[in-house]
Amino acid sequence: MRLSHAVAALIVAWFADFGCIQAVTLNVTEGNTTCIKADLSATFSITYNTSSSTRTVQVPLPNSTVVDAGRKSCGTDGSSPWLVAVFGSGHALGLSFLTNGILYSVANLTLQYNLSDASIFPEANRSGVVIVVLPSVGISATINTTYRCMSPSTFGVGGAAVTFSDMRLEAYMPGNDLSPTESVCTADQTSTTAPPTTAGTTTTAAPAPPPPGTPERGTYSVNNLNGTVCLLAQMGLQLNVSYFSLSQNKTIQELVNLTPNLTRSSGSCEASSASLVLAQEGSSTLNFTFTLNSTSNKYHLSGITLLANLSDATAPFSASNTSLDYLRSTLGHSYMCNAEQTLVVATTFSLNTFRLQVQPFEVTTNQFATAEECQVDQDQMLIPIIVGAALAGLVLIVLIAYLIGRRRSHAGYQTI
Ligand SMILES: *[C@@H]1O[C@H](CO)[C@@H](O)[C@H](O)[C@H]1NC(C)=O
Ligand SMILES: *[C@@H]1O[C@H](CO)[C@@H](O)[C@H](O)[C@H]1NC(C)=O
Ligand SMILES: *[C@@H]1O[C@H](CO)[C@@H](O)[C@H](O)[C@H]1NC(C)=O
Ligand SMILES: *[C@@H]1O[C@H](CO)[C@@H](O)[C@H](O)[C@H]1NC(C)=O
Ligand SMILES: *[C@@H]1O[C@H](CO)[C@@H](O)[C@H](O)[C@H]1NC(C)=O
Ligand SMILES: *[C@@H]1O[C@H](CO)[C@@H](O)[C@H](O)[C@H]1NC(C)=O
Ligand SMILES: *[C@@H]1O[C@H](CO)[C@@H](O)[C@H](O)[C@H]1NC(C)=O
Ligand SMILES: *[C@@H]1O[C@H](CO)[C@@H](O)[C@H](O)[C@H]1NC(C)=O
Ligand SMILES: *[C@@H]1O[C@H](CO)[C@@H](O)[C@H](O)[C@H]1NC(C)=O
Ligand SMILES: *[C@@H]1O[C@H](CO)[C@@H](O)[C@H](O)[C@H]1NC(C)=O
Ligand SMILES: *[C@@H]1O[C@H](CO)[C@@H](O)[C@H](O)[C@H]1NC(C)=O
Ligand SMILES: *[C@@H]1O[C@H](CO)[C@@H](O)[C@H](O)[C@H]1NC(C)=O
Repeated sequence: MRLSHAVAALIVAWFADFGCIQAVTLNVTEGNTTCIKADLSATFSITYNTSSSTRTVQVPLPNSTVVDAGRKSCGTDGSSPWLVAVFGSGHALGLSFLTNGILYSVANLTLQYNLSDASIFPEANRSGVVIVVLPSVGISATINTTYRCMSPSTFGVGGAAVTFSDMRLEAYMPGNDLSPTESVCTADQTSTTAPPTTAGTTTTAAPAPPPPGTPERGTYSVNNLNGTVCLLAQMGLQLNVSYFSLSQNKTIQELVNLTPNLTRSSGSCEASSASLVLAQEGSSTLNFTFTLNSTSNKYHLSGITLLANLSDATAPFSASNTSLDYLRSTLGHSYMCNAEQTLVVATTFSLNTFRLQVQPFEVTTNQFATAEECQVDQDQMLIPIIVGAALAGLVLIVLIAYLIGRRRSHAGYQTI
């Protein structure tokens, strides 16, 4: 009896302190509204020194973890929303958020542990609370969606790290419950066949994805307030972005294709400017601005803004340039370019367009007006003409040579 009691107590202690990873629910509410909610499991991995050696302990976040009432905010006072989850004696996990109106992300992650807690850090040669702040860990999602990552993901520096798993999290919430729409992390997207728990530290693996090939061509339009189409566009789009990859610990260049059937278009049409906004759910928003010069009756693409959610980047990616001069054409015409074009927007971002036709002004009856074609297309159209002309010339020369030859040989026969 005694022995089984002791064993039971040991098992309970073990579950409470170590092995058993439990799901915790954390929320931050202000008044009656919830602004941050997180369902997750987490394990701290802490390396500390004793007088004679170095040890590493794994500390799961227990289900008794609660949000510290004194260290939470919905950001209504202009600060950023944050929460601090506390457990045990002086241990804590902090999450701070920021948004750009389209995406939200974890601005920084705080790990706090108390080396004086001998039940977790026996024989530690130091005492007191240690705080580690990790800026921009790359957790980000489209606003009004839930960030979901079932696969384990590890964030840390030096001897302190936290591994999250089974994570569902949302900040800037539109309601009191997690949004049903989810932004799924890349680790989950790629490990559909493997059970998530065996995927290991996915933040350090992720090989470079293969180049995506030519993007599909999409058809997009913008409606006036009275419902008539005022802007038309057909094109395949490919983003070429450079960013700092967390998993590879270096700046990498990546090509990302826009998928037309996952992309929604919106925008506005005014007398001398028009905008086309393409939003791909959970990943990117592209804003094109076209400007009309009413003196010269010429229009051009004057601005491009990109906001993208790259799961492996340290923060939401953004790039913008409002003094561009691309796709120049005349009012009353559409602009067309079948050849691939590269529109450089910033040092970190350029946009590749394929089989493009746009008309940002004076669209009538849902159709493109006569197209003005880009120089590359015109040059490419010249090639078959030149080749054709050259071939025709060759045929002519051969024919003439043959005729002359025939006449000569005729003459030859006659002399015999
Ligand atoms: C938020 O958490 C508290 C306890 O931490 C709980 O009483 C409350 O019901 C939760 N609210 C929501 C909306 O889940
Ligand atoms: C919160 O809800 C209660 C009951 O539903 C209501 O009486 C109260 O006015 C609400 N408070 C706010 C700040 O909306
Ligand atoms: C542990 O001790 C080693 C050697 O003295 C030192 O280099 C290391 O920084 C210490 N680690 C921690 C977490 O204090
Ligand atoms: C925490 O987990 C233990 C064991 O799984 C369970 O007995 C206990 O009721 C849980 N406590 C809470 C507050 O959920
Ligand atoms: C750290 O742990 C010690 C021992 O459990 C405790 O006395 C102390 O209050 C803790 N510190 C904090 C800041 O909670
Ligand atoms: C975490 O990020 C928020 C938002 O940018 C900032 O207000 C806060 O000071 C940061 N905290 C730390 C410890 O860096
Ligand atoms: C998010 O949802 C709220 C409430 O449903 C809405 O007012 C807001 O415009 C939405 N934001 C975005 C960026 O869709
Ligand atoms: C729709 O509105 C535009 C200006 O906003 C106007 O030029 C056009 O005539 C209107 N079309 C119809 C059918 O009312
Ligand atoms: C990232 O690379 C830098 C130098 O390239 C190195 O100093 C640093 O330790 C690396 N960080 C990680 C987490 O590997
Ligand atoms: C999008 O298009 C691709 C290929 O055209 C198709 O395989 C996929 O099912 C489509 N997805 C949706 C959500 O329509
Ligand atoms: C797109 O850019 C235009 C011009 O800068 C701006 O007026 C508009 O609000 C932008 N749209 C979105 C959705 O950001
Ligand atoms: C419009 O075009 C005219 C004639 O080409 C030029 O002089 C003028 O600077 C242009 N205006 C703007 C705002 O670019």
